[in-house]
Amino acid sequence: KENKLWGGRFEKSVTDCVEKFSESVSFDKVLYKQDIIGSRAHATMLAHQGLMSESDRDAILRGLDEIQTQIEDGHFVWRTDREDVHMNIEAALTDLIGEPAKKLHTARSRNDQVVTDLRLWCRDAIHKIKTCIQKLQVALVKLALQNEGLIVPGYTHLQRAQPVLLQHLLLAYIEQLERDAGRLIDCSARLNFCPLGACALAGTGLPIDRFMTAEALGFTSPMANSIDAVSDRDFVLELLSVNSIIAMHLSRIGEEWVLWASEEFGFLIPSDAVSTGSSIMPQKKNPDPMELVRGKSARVFGDLMTLLVLCKGLPQAYNRDLQEDKEPLFDSVKTVMGMLDVTAEFAENITFNRERILQALPAGHLDATTLADYLDIPFRTAHDIVGKSVALCLSKNCQLLNLTLAEFKDLNPVFEEDVYEFLGVEKCVNKFSSYGSTGSDCVAKQLFQWTSKLDIGSN
Ligand code: ARG
Repeated sequence: KENKLWGGRFEKSVTDCVEKFSESVSFDKVLYKQDIIGSRAHATMLAHQGLMSESDRDAILRGLDEIQTQIEDGHFVWRTDREDVHMNIEAALTDLIGEPAKKLHTARSRNDQVVTDLRLWCRDAIHKIKTCIQKLQVALVKLALQNEGLIVPGYTHLQRAQPVLLQHLLLAYIEQLERDAGRLIDCSARLNFCPLGACALAGTGLPIDRFMTAEALGFTSPMANSIDAVSDRDFVLELLSVNSIIAMHLSRIGEEWVLWASEEFGFLIPSDAVSTGSSIMPQKKNPDPMELVRGKSARVFGDLMTLLVLCKGLPQAYNRDLQEDKEPLFDSVKTVMGMLDVTAEFAENITFNRERILQALPAGHLDATTLADYLDIPFRTAHDIVGKSVALCLSKNCQLLNLTLAEFKDLNPVFEEDVYEFLGVEKCVNKFSSYGSTGSDCVAKQLFQWTSKLDIGSN
């Protein structure tokens, strides 16, 4: 058996069972790029500070290049007995260049190394998630552009409430996603401080320059407290929290679209390209991708819970438990990106069933609130009068616009001939005209802003 990098004080080698149980290389090898970038910055700084010769530094930098090539070509041999990505790379470097490699771990511990890698990885991941969010926003804006003027029932309590433009509903999703992107940006700014040089927990007496490595790695500055630097995974928690909010938003879209694709609603038709069939019922066409978007949100929430519970009992500073931070992080990021991508693809492959939606619109007295607004009397009184008008419609099985002026006047003399300007979903929807409302002028303005912001051409 090879001697461990930490093996100096040990007389016996670790059992196979413990070795297998403790290794993390099987999943943390995805951090290889960040680990190599970090080592490059560290070696460059050590040489600059006179803690390593320039020739040793050059040998290390060349060796790291070679290792990166081997990894990317698939020739690198990852070894479980070398525990994790950090020791795999360091030991391979020693195999490759000999003595100089042994100087790389000067003024460094795996504790500051792993958390530096992880911050760099999260920074990249955030960038990728943001790109996926934008792709979905573009798909939603395009869907909105294809459906100008289409009015759909708006719901509260899943009961018919008021008419809204479909575009308005789609823009609501886009606004929610925009706040998610904003949360990612906040998270990225807060995590962008460099733990490297905190070493095991107490810092170091060697004359390193933490500002130099921080800058080389694109961090805002070094973290101020070495114990904090190696202890906390709040940045991972924050990213998993943001991911959970994204997943929750997508799950709601999933729920809505699954519902709308049902026979009962029939508002939405997914193309075959995003539907799947049943192994027993030949007639079935199911909106599985959006059901899975709804379902996968559970994993993303679970990943967040895993990390919260993982961290809550840990005394400062580094504890090996923290190795368990990686799989939930990787899973959450991969899952959320998949959810965003598939939702975008679904949006690109659905059509709205105008006929069914038109048939549905008369039911539910969607124009009742507008009618109450029309009455130029205290709102509570108007509410009561319109309530009585709706009751009359219910008894006659008709809509508000089918009541005659005489019937209206019978209910209350304040009704005039112009009441019909406020009835029926088409007239009614445009009465919602104040800022942020669903009227077509407001919606057109918002849509214009989004098409410019997302740089979407009219084609
Ligand atoms: N694989 C470890 C992790 O992921 C690296 C740090 C190990 N540090 C240690 N002192 N054992 O957290």
